[in-house]
Amino acid sequence: MNMQFKQPRSAAEADQSAKLSIRGVTKSYGSIAVLKSLDLEVRDGELLTLLGPSGSGKTTLLQIICGLVEPSSGSVAIDGRDQTNLPVHERDIGVVFQHYALFPHLTVAENVAFPLRMRRLKQRDIQRRVDEALTMVNLSHVGDRLPKALSGGQQQRVALARCLVYRPGVILMDEPLGALDRKLRETMQMEIKRIHRETGATIVFVTHDQEEALALSDRICLMNEGSIAQIDTPHAIYDRPNSRFCAEFIGLSNIFEGALVEGGMRTADGLIPLYGLTQDYTYLMVRPENVEFIPAGTGYFDATIVESVYAGSNTQVVAQSAAGTTISCRCPAGVSALAVGSKVGVTWRADAVRYIK
Ligand SMILES: Nc1ncnc2c1ncn2[C@@H]1O[C@H](COP(=O)(O)OP(=O)(O)OP(=O)(O)O)[C@@H](O)[C@H]1O
Ligand SMILES: [Mg+2]
Repeated sequence: MNMQFKQPRSAAEADQSAKLSIRGVTKSYGSIAVLKSLDLEVRDGELLTLLGPSGSGKTTLLQIICGLVEPSSGSVAIDGRDQTNLPVHERDIGVVFQHYALFPHLTVAENVAFPLRMRRLKQRDIQRRVDEALTMVNLSHVGDRLPKALSGGQQQRVALARCLVYRPGVILMDEPLGALDRKLRETMQMEIKRIHRETGATIVFVTHDQEEALALSDRICLMNEGSIAQIDTPHAIYDRPNSRFCAEFIGLSNIFEGALVEGGMRTADGLIPLYGLTQDYTYLMVRPENVEFIPAGTGYFDATIVESVYAGSNTQVVAQSAAGTTISCRCPAGVSALAVGSKVGVTWRADAVRYIK
C-alpha cells in the first residue's frame, strides 16, 4: 500500500509552511459583498474546516480556490505558486462535492481510474493505483459494480477514492457527508480522519455542522458574513471563543451581558463576582458542563428548572432565572434528577468563566 502523498504526520507535527495561501480575496455579486478581503493559510498536511452558517461564503471560497469562480480581487497560491488565473483543470486540486457525481455508466473501478486516464498514465500503473485507492476506502470488493448498486455512503467513498487516486496537492470537500444519515456520517468522519492521517493530504473541508468540524479538524476557520470570525484548533475555539458569535456557534453556551463594576459584572441576574480583570468586557460565558445547580439561595442567583432531558451519558437541564435568563447545565450521569419546577442556585467554578468583548 503506497497511497501516501508524502510522509504522514500527526497534527502537532504538521508542517507550518503554507500549502495553500489565500490573500485579500474579495467576492461581490453586484453590490453584495459575499467575501470580504479574506486572508487564510492552510498548512501542508493540515485538515482545515470552513465552518459557518448558511450563506457565510464557504462554498464561494471553495469555488474560488478551485477556479470555478473568479474572485473580484485577491489571489490564491499553492506551494507559493499563484493559481488565480489558472483554469480549473490546471490547478493541483481535487474536489469532492455533497452529491457524489459519479459517472453512472462506468463501474466503480472505471470511475476511480477516470482521472488517471485523463492524465494518460500507463494501464499497469492505473490498475495498481485504482486498487490502492479502493483499498484505502475499504471498497476493493465492489470495483466491478455500477454506482447505482452502492449505498450513499459507499458512493461517497468512491468519490473520495476518485479524488485520492491522482494525489492532488490540495483536496477540497464541500459538505461531502451532508446527504448521509447521522450514523453513516459519523462512520465516514472516522474514515476521513484515518485517510487524512495515512495519506498526509492537505484537506479543506466545508461543513455547517459544528460537531463535525470539532471531530475532524486540525484547525477550524469559522466564517460569518463573508469574513473569518476565528481560526484556531477545535479545543482553542471551544475553550476561548473570541466573540459572542463564536461562543454561540460552537457548542452550547450560557452568555451573560452586563457592565463591569467594582467586584464583578452587573447583570440582569445581579452582581456576578469576578476578580482581577484588567480589561473591559461586555459578556461572560460559561459552558453547560461547567454550570452547577446547588440549593437555592447559595449560588450567584436562583433559577427554576424548566426542562430536564435524559441523554444517556448525561442529563441536559435548563433553568430560567427571575430576570428571564435561560441557563443550560449538562449534569453528569449519576447526579440525581432535578424535578421541573424546583428552585436551584446557579454557580460555576471561577476558572470556567470566559470573557468576551
Ligand atoms: N452566483 C451568485 N450570484 C449571486 N449571489 C450569490 C451567488 N453565489 C452565491 N451567492 C450568495 O453568496 C452568499 C454566500 O453563498 P455560499 O454558497 O458561499 O454560502 P455557504 O456558506 O456555502 O452556505 P451553505 O451553508 O448554505 O452552503 C449567499 O448569500 C449567496 O446567496
Ligand atoms: Mg455551501
